[in-house]
Amino acid sequence: MAPPLPALVLLLAVTFPLSAAAAVFPGEALPTKSGYLPIPPANASLFFAFYEATHPLTAPASTPLLLWLQGGPGCSGLLGNFFELGPYFVNPDNVSLSRNPFAWNRRFGLLFIDSPLGTGFSAAPSPADIPTNQSVIAAHLLAALQSFFALDPTFRARPFFLTGESYAGKYIPAAGAHILDANPTLPESLRVNVRGVAIGNGLTHPVAQVATHADAAYFSGLINARQKRELEALQAEAVSLTRAERWREASDARGRVLARLQNMTGLATLYDAAKQQAYQSEPVGAFLNRAETKAALGARGGVKWEECSDAVGAAMHADVMRSVRPQVESLLRRTRVLLYQGIRDLRDGVVSTEAWLGEVDWDGLGVFLDAERVVWRTPGDGELAGYVQRSGALSHVVVYGAGHLVPADNGRAAQEMIEDWVMQAGPFGSGGDGLRLRSAA
Ligand SMILES: *[C@@H]1O[C@H](CO)[C@@H](O)[C@H](O)[C@H]1NC(C)=O
Ligand SMILES: *[C@@H]1O[C@H](CO)[C@@H](O)[C@H](O)[C@H]1NC(C)=O
Ligand SMILES: *[C@@H]1O[C@H](CO)[C@@H](O)[C@H](O)[C@H]1NC(C)=O
Ligand SMILES: *[C@@H]1O[C@H](CO)[C@@H](O)[C@H](O)[C@H]1NC(C)=O
Repeated sequence: MAPPLPALVLLLAVTFPLSAAAAVFPGEALPTKSGYLPIPPANASLFFAFYEATHPLTAPASTPLLLWLQGGPGCSGLLGNFFELGPYFVNPDNVSLSRNPFAWNRRFGLLFIDSPLGTGFSAAPSPADIPTNQSVIAAHLLAALQSFFALDPTFRARPFFLTGESYAGKYIPAAGAHILDANPTLPESLRVNVRGVAIGNGLTHPVAQVATHADAAYFSGLINARQKRELEALQAEAVSLTRAERWREASDARGRVLARLQNMTGLATLYDAAKQQAYQSEPVGAFLNRAETKAALGARGGVKWEECSDAVGAAMHADVMRSVRPQVESLLRRTRVLLYQGIRDLRDGVVSTEAWLGEVDWDGLGVFLDAERVVWRTPGDGELAGYVQRSGALSHVVVYGAGHLVPADNGRAAQEMIEDWVMQAGPFGSGGDGLRLRSAA
């Protein structure tokens, strides 16, 4: 249950001042485990931070584990940790932390990994080791997870969910399908108990998604008919280059669509049509690059943390317009899939997802498309949280009051969504389960 407002204000006010001289990360905010998970190339490893569930409603051995992957390509999972959904956020003073009342590790163990190699604290041994495609990233993630499960013998049996946003709309289907394909070939002691995947504002099937910007902007009143035609011409270029598999040029063409849209609308950020300034995430970098912070997290002192790595972006340039829709289809046949979008995002928003969702090759699609889109309200005050459509393995959620970084913009709705979806309760349950779960909160 969402805390009443006075409690929320109180929680937000709990901060831990760290003077410049203080050499400690507040103990309460420290990850349960963090450091490096070895992966195949010699000497390579991915940085991780893991937070155990603080208020689980399940026995420890069956408490779900969530992996969070950031987008980019090349943005650090620690942005999610300290700006979106982790237990503590970095304050604008760059040094102190505030408790996030809507952390995703309330009910579940929460694992952040800096992936692909070269991202965040996961420095690549050499530039040539930075992955250039989804199969390498998926293999690295599975290897890192094996290293993670080896840290605690009770981890492996817990229900496991892959979650993330934006470019993780590529990583999650690729890694999820890779793990489910690998499981039967692995000894039982090395299998991963995947129970679902959740993608927020994802880039997944770009050829369809890139063709939606003109409509989305025009029908929201952000551009006029002449500008719409101009954008449509740029989109058509990106589509035809993608169809021709001229991947780098196609990626450049998509970049021109977004730059032109940015120019036409004059918005502070295409990630959120309602914002007068871009997401203010700079304090995360200032905090993570302090020697004390790196020491507390077990990150290598010599690695400069960047929110998004240009080197990874460049290495992945030819991947941008490639699709992982077939991997989503394969996941729909084997596990549960949640696609959610903040309604104010103009880059990877609702229409962008609807554009490819309607054409997935999956037996349940017809029933899903006919399913009711339920108005979703926060229990208690009845505030509008968004819309939920679901059938069988697939859930589609539109989050009200949010742009691209859904948990940062509407933490309460995001927490309620992920908790209910994982537990198959509330709008994702089949009866009164949801009510019982929430009243136990
Ligand atoms: C691995 O790292 C160690 C220490 O930095 C170095 O001595 C060794 O040569 C490296 N091995 C490879 C294969 O890169
Ligand atoms: C926080 O760090 C940024 C650089 O990342 C700097 O520009 C800003 O002045 C710092 N703010 C404070 C309050 O120290
Ligand atoms: C992905 O990259 C690796 C390493 O460069 C390469 O060996 C492999 O063939 C690539 N896979 C695909 C599907 O392009
Ligand atoms: C759009 O681009 C034009 C031409 O480069 C430039 O003059 C104008 O200032 C830009 N407008 C905005 C809002 O960025």
